[in-house]
Amino acid sequence: MRFIGNKERLVDWIYSVIEKNNIKGELFFDFFSGTASVGKFFKAKGYQVISSDLLYFSYVLQRAYIKNNTYPTFNRLINNIDITSTFLFADNYELVIEYLNSLEGYEGFIFQNYAPTKTEHLEKPRMYFTDENAKKIDAIRIKIEEWKEKEFINEDEYFILLATLIEAIGFFSNILGVYGAFKKNWDRRALKPFKLKPISTIESQKEHFVFNQSSLDLLDKFKYDIIYLDPPYNHRQYAPNYHLLETIAKYDNPIIKGVSGMREYKEQKSTFCNKVTALRDLETICKSTNYKYILLSYNNEGLMPQDDIVNIMSKYGDVKIEEYDYLRFKSNSNGDAKFKKFIKEQIYILKRENRR
Ligand SMILES: C[S@@+](CC[C@H](N)C(=O)[O-])C[C@H]1O[C@@H](n2cnc3c(N)ncnc32)[C@H](O)[C@@H]1O
Repeated sequence: MRFIGNKERLVDWIYSVIEKNNIKGELFFDFFSGTASVGKFFKAKGYQVISSDLLYFSYVLQRAYIKNNTYPTFNRLINNIDITSTFLFADNYELVIEYLNSLEGYEGFIFQNYAPTKTEHLEKPRMYFTDENAKKIDAIRIKIEEWKEKEFINEDEYFILLATLIEAIGFFSNILGVYGAFKKNWDRRALKPFKLKPISTIESQKEHFVFNQSSLDLLDKFKYDIIYLDPPYNHRQYAPNYHLLETIAKYDNPIIKGVSGMREYKEQKSTFCNKVTALRDLETICKSTNYKYILLSYNNEGLMPQDDIVNIMSKYGDVKIEEYDYLRFKSNSNGDAKFKKFIKEQIYILKRENRR
């Protein structure tokens, strides 16, 4: 999924750092979960995972990938709706996806507010989705909620379907990467007819716990072996940049404002987007005695200077830094051309002394 700071391509390196430094443990806290990429990887490796994020759509992904331990059966739903398949060997989940993909579009909140026809009166009519795709998204979102209300699907199945929808949105959005603005002209991806694709679930015998709150408030809840920190690296808050995913996940008809139709996000502001409060809260985390190791992902362009991070961490134990040259594609300041840039990805390792 396109998400700033998604560690999908770095998880193998993170794991190799853990192995190289002989870091052992069973309880892994994915403190800034985002797309849940890191939690997914460590769950599949056999760890017990705790994860949390301020964003609700992240919680939806965490529910589907981390907390849920089985492939969905949809037994109850299949007996309650009329599904016929064009695929010979489709399983129930695939049949449900096919059913949702074939729904007639509906003129709901997304169509009314984020597609051009109904926003024509605005100075800049919103072009996040084509009319047809917006109607499709509304129809699917409403159907998932209806099935939950009728108890045709259980909680796990509900979150798997919501996560399936959230994962699909980016492939049809007319944006440059984040939802803070839409493109002036239609991108090819936005013109394709909207379609869901099944997501993969991860089997596990362990109980995993996921949350939708500030992780700072979870420091005392468990005794962690590894706390993995992947905070925002700069001033940009995540909530406004992903407001549309949040609204589709919640589907709560929020009051929206401005050219991009943004929802209120004051409760979702992160203290890690400001140097002073980021350093203060990094210290709060390090000070806790409920962990063995902290692994902090950061890079050499982040808000918190390396010296300050090391000074804080070394009050609480031994600190080591591992580095990795990471090739990143960045938009230039006009947002169109792309150029290659090497960023130094870093992992700070803190081994806690005097653990409680
Ligand atoms: C760099 S991203 C994490 C990316 C993630 N590791 C991934 O692979 O997708 C930072 C995330 O931290 C979340 N966040 C910021 N402050 C937080 C806090 N105090 N508690 C929980 N999550 C927070 C943001 O919403 C965002 O999703």
